[in-house]
Amino acid sequence: MRQQRLVVAKFALCLLTSAALFLGVPAADNPCAAGPPVDTNPAECCPTPMLVDGTIMMDCYKKYGEQTKKQLQMEGIPRGCCIAECAMNATNMYVDGMLKRDDLSKMFMDAVKDKPEWMSLVRDATNACFEMAEKKMDEIEAGAKLEPSFEGEKICHPISGTILRCMSMMMFAQCPASVFNVNDDCKKLREYGSICPMI
Ligand SMILES: *[C@@H]1O[C@H](CO)[C@@H](O)[C@H](O)[C@H]1NC(C)=O
Repeated sequence: MRQQRLVVAKFALCLLTSAALFLGVPAADNPCAAGPPVDTNPAECCPTPMLVDGTIMMDCYKKYGEQTKKQLQMEGIPRGCCIAECAMNATNMYVDGMLKRDDLSKMFMDAVKDKPEWMSLVRDATNACFEMAEKKMDEIEAGAKLEPSFEGEKICHPISGTILRCMSMMMFAQCPASVFNVNDDCKKLREYGSICPMI
């Protein structure tokens, strides 16, 4: 459990993104700009199952965590998250700017096979996330064509981060009542998490 929280917390890095870009609104009107309203750990409000093997995520974080932190400070077209792409490579899901949708759905469903309360949610979220990515394909492709902007920056294709981030947000926002820890802080966090990138 502790290991899982650590992985979730570290992976959150990758899932953070320029909120203004994410919502497509100016920073001044951005409800996400101030960050989460409470400092409760999302994993304590809703222990979402890990969809990707924790060891793989940790390895990828070790390789790309530092560059991802730098990239998060940058403006402009969102840069692809290499932690996510590294994980999709390690699981054989990423090929030539695309994720193998059927295989990935199966991997996600396997990850919740002992958690019936998550099954339909994960299935629906997978479909919704691929549809969402389809709609922002122009921006995703533009991100894939960026040039490195600092020494040693590796450019990754944004599709992997887009899908994994979307899955995490959906799972948190729609956390099943049976696992959601109902208290005021968690409710506030869920409201924030349903519109802003967080975990
Ligand atoms: C993932 O694999 C592709 C194709 O082999 C490679 O070009 C890319 O650099 C890899 N990405 C990461 C983050 O390792």
